[in-house]
Amino acid sequence: MNLFGKKKKLSHHAYAVVTGAGSGIGRSFALQLAKRGGTVICADIDLNAANDTVQQIESLGATAYAYQCDVAQADQVQALADQAEQIMGHPVTLVINNAGVGLGGKFEEMRLEDWHWCLNINLWGVIHGCHAFVPQLKKNGFGGIINVGSAASYTAAPEMSVYNVSKAGVMALSETLAAELKKYQIQVNVLCPTLVPTNIIKNGRIPGRYSKLADHALMNYAFTTSDAVAKLTLDRLDKGELYTIPQMDAKLFWSMKRTSPTFYNKFLGFSYQFFK
Ligand SMILES: NC(=O)c1ccc[n+]([C@@H]2O[C@H](COP(=O)([O-])OP(=O)(O)OC[C@H]3O[C@@H](n4cnc5c(N)ncnc54)[C@H](O)[C@@H]3O)[C@@H](O)[C@H]2O)c1
Repeated sequence: MNLFGKKKKLSHHAYAVVTGAGSGIGRSFALQLAKRGGTVICADIDLNAANDTVQQIESLGATAYAYQCDVAQADQVQALADQAEQIMGHPVTLVINNAGVGLGGKFEEMRLEDWHWCLNINLWGVIHGCHAFVPQLKKNGFGGIINVGSAASYTAAPEMSVYNVSKAGVMALSETLAAELKKYQIQVNVLCPTLVPTNIIKNGRIPGRYSKLADHALMNYAFTTSDAVAKLTLDRLDKGELYTIPQMDAKLFWSMKRTSPTFYNKFLGFSYQFFK
């Protein structure tokens, strides 16, 4: 609370850790936080990419630090949490568990190795982030967590079984934590976008038969940008909202699934018959 009894905006002057900050939505979160007066640790498995984001932030006159971290590795995320306060010279006030990968294909095409790869990053990466940072946020009695889910958290689209499962878990965890941490003044938000133009298709494991089409759709028909999505999510966190469903199509599926789940699933099965 400030002198006037107003709640502090979590996205303003934050001391933030962003995973997957070397590209796409994570980079946009890091830049947007810097523009709001924040200091950011840009964590990524790709240190060069994290360094590029740091340079962009420094060119804005703000402070950021690059940190190499594979979110699938619990010990690396714990080390990041243990060092973050010392690196920034201030306790962490905001954690953004964003790092993730794309994976598509029919259920029977998915090897168990694919399940482990994707769940280890998309779901375990978020679990590791929450597990490592929640105790310090609770100790400080203030803070925010943004977990990057997807519209896949609730749409259950065909040929995305592994990705859907990973993102449904992110939403369930975020909803549970939101209720559990409210009394500790810790605000949680889960971001659930449809298409956002980033490198996710190029970096992911998408079957050759539709990888070009998927990348084309992502880059040309997304009707939003990673910057717009990051900005909206931070604004919604500041307002105390749990869900960020940024686009019209994401909102339409969200409403169909919740108001008529059986009809929604029949609609998916029907539409999929015509998918080659
Ligand atoms: N782009 C979309 O259409 C879209 C839609 C819904 C949700 N999302 C989610 O947004 C998040 C960000 O993805 P993006 O679209 O910006 O993709 P991106 O590929 O542009 O960026 C992902 C970043 O995460 C990093 N990363 C990958 N594996 C990592 C690991 N094990 N540890 C740490 N960093 C790792 C990559 O190096 C990269 O910098 C993901 O969780 C993704 O599932 C994206």
